[in-house]
Amino acid sequence: MDVTYRILRFNPDTDSAPHYETYRIEVPDSATVLDGLQAIKDVQDGTLTFRRSCRQGICGSCAMRVNDRERLACNTQISHVADGNELRVEPLANMAVIKDLAVDMTPFWQKFNAIVPYTIHAGERPEREYLVSNEKVRHLQQFAGCIQCGACYSACPIVGSDPEYLGPAALAKAYRFVGDPRDAAKKERLGIVGSERGIWRCHTIFNCTEVCPKGVDPTYAIELLKKATIRRKLGLG
Ligand code: FES
Repeated sequence: MDVTYRILRFNPDTDSAPHYETYRIEVPDSATVLDGLQAIKDVQDGTLTFRRSCRQGICGSCAMRVNDRERLACNTQISHVADGNELRVEPLANMAVIKDLAVDMTPFWQKFNAIVPYTIHAGERPEREYLVSNEKVRHLQQFAGCIQCGACYSACPIVGSDPEYLGPAALAKAYRFVGDPRDAAKKERLGIVGSERGIWRCHTIFNCTEVCPKGVDPTYAIELLKKATIRRKLGLG
């Protein structure tokens, strides 16, 4: 299969503005977007910069925009997304470009850390494990599947218009703990997500839900956080 990649490239050290560069390559029909990028880097232009590690949709490092949508490059077959035989590849949005397809995820991680992304236990430790019902685990698993790739953060127009907004990944992770019966910091966490930069900024646009490569539904998590916040304000939970 012949494929043409149009890649948005930018080197802040030498370029005054981002620009597209075009590469034609031949790849097997089963090739992924990442396979093509790697072939370009190996054979045509060693300066092309992008992140990848696991190549199995696990680490989240290869998220980028392919034909106007956030995707994991390693998990996306070219034949499934090519427009004709063309691919337009761009870095994630809403974050500064370090070089080419690698973005500075510092704000993403700062917001992720702001929601205290770990369980805080209180009271006596049980003699054995903390028990959680199967039903509860199944409910929480849908939010625990996040691989922190940043796809939802890039797709969110609220993040684009308000850099302070915590964003879908951090809020979905917050619900993963707010909904966990083992966690003793529900009140504090709801205080964080209920702040000006939190859940009430979400306009329920669903972009985050649409692009998540792991099927996490941040919009649903944000709605559940709103519900929990209102219940707490009414003294119901
Ligand atoms: Fe790890 Fe793509 S390289 S998710």
